[in-house]
Amino acid sequence: MTTSYMTGFANHFASEAIPGALPQGRNSPQKPAFGLYAEQLSGTAFTAPRSENRRSWLYRLRPSAAHPAFTRYQGAPLFAPGVVKQPFAPNRLRWGPLDIDGEADWIDSLTTMVVAGDGPTTQAGVAVHIYRATRDMARRAFVSGDGELVVIPEQGRLTLFTEMGRIDLQPGEIALIPRGVRFRVTLPDGKARGYVAENHGAPFRLPDLGPIGANGLANPRDFETPTAWFEDVEGDFELVQKFRGSLWTTNLGRSPLDVVAWHGNLAPCKYDLFRFNTIGSISYDHPDPSIFTVLTSPSDVPGTANVDFVIFPPRWLVAEDTFRPPWFHRNVMSECMGLITGAYDAKAEGFRPGALSLHNQMSGHGPDVASWKGASEAALKPHKIEDTMAFMVESRWIFSPTDYALKTSALDEDYDQVWQGFPKAELPRG
Ligand SMILES: [Fe+2]
Repeated sequence: MTTSYMTGFANHFASEAIPGALPQGRNSPQKPAFGLYAEQLSGTAFTAPRSENRRSWLYRLRPSAAHPAFTRYQGAPLFAPGVVKQPFAPNRLRWGPLDIDGEADWIDSLTTMVVAGDGPTTQAGVAVHIYRATRDMARRAFVSGDGELVVIPEQGRLTLFTEMGRIDLQPGEIALIPRGVRFRVTLPDGKARGYVAENHGAPFRLPDLGPIGANGLANPRDFETPTAWFEDVEGDFELVQKFRGSLWTTNLGRSPLDVVAWHGNLAPCKYDLFRFNTIGSISYDHPDPSIFTVLTSPSDVPGTANVDFVIFPPRWLVAEDTFRPPWFHRNVMSECMGLITGAYDAKAEGFRPGALSLHNQMSGHGPDVASWKGASEAALKPHKIEDTMAFMVESRWIFSPTDYALKTSALDEDYDQVWQGFPKAELPRG
């Protein structure tokens, strides 16, 4: 079957896979068409302001409520195992790409690297996971009750079969799966690697544009939401649910992807990062990286995000008398970065696609020596940075690495060395 999409971001959508399945004029008719079951999925409190409120009505073959008790899931040994409890140093950390070794489907390959905040029970913070899958998820689905998922492929395409429709995803695109939406993942290329940011806080939305005006950054019409699609599969079907930071399983006896029609503004979507309308300086200096924010999850402090999803896309650099890469900085916000393709302009080497870096609150970082030297001496002609797509998950909450992240051989033990060897500034004598 072909995949079809509707466009917009968190607009109100309506879709039916079978004509007549979607009720007209009411959400919960006494008898929905064909004996379907009406079910509301709420992504915000019922009483959230209208501008914040997210919910959809699903019309399905059987209600989600029909399932046996959950028991502890024994797979996915590196997914959500919790963060290290002992104190950890304010060191800058960097990991090389994790190898795609072993056989695992998307769920079982998920590896939690860092968690910002106190975990999902607080409904704040964000976790960053890496997947490296070699098998399709067959007759099983996953759902996170803990957060909204941003799926960021780095290698290999994914097909996400969700309750609301099918999403075909490739590196350079991201998918947003709302908290509570069930899905399974297949691998058209046989294997795949990438990142997942799990947002435990308020749903992502587009940032306000302020003086930028009505256009720019990520445009709402470029977010593609799937149309209704369902599978009518009976027999063993496992549902793995993430709940309070741990994994649980039950056998539904049917596919949970049985939504024949739906409407509402809580829905998965995808976005091509290369459509981002990148804005930067046309005089001197460079703006803060907030200018590259794709999506933001606000916290209760205005302007201080629970988490921002930020990208560093291909772009022209034209600023005069300016050190063009990011200068040295120390921030109150904490930064976790990954690289989808190409190279990142503030690091000469050692940060490859699939890698991850962590610069926590107030840790000093910025260009390495080679990048600093190169950018300090470069002729400042208009220059286009090409072949790159880095991203940053930035949070007001401090990231804690997991036990696995601190022990894996992918951890770069010499990361601090990239900032060794800067010559001392020379003051005038006399
Ligand atoms: Fe930074």
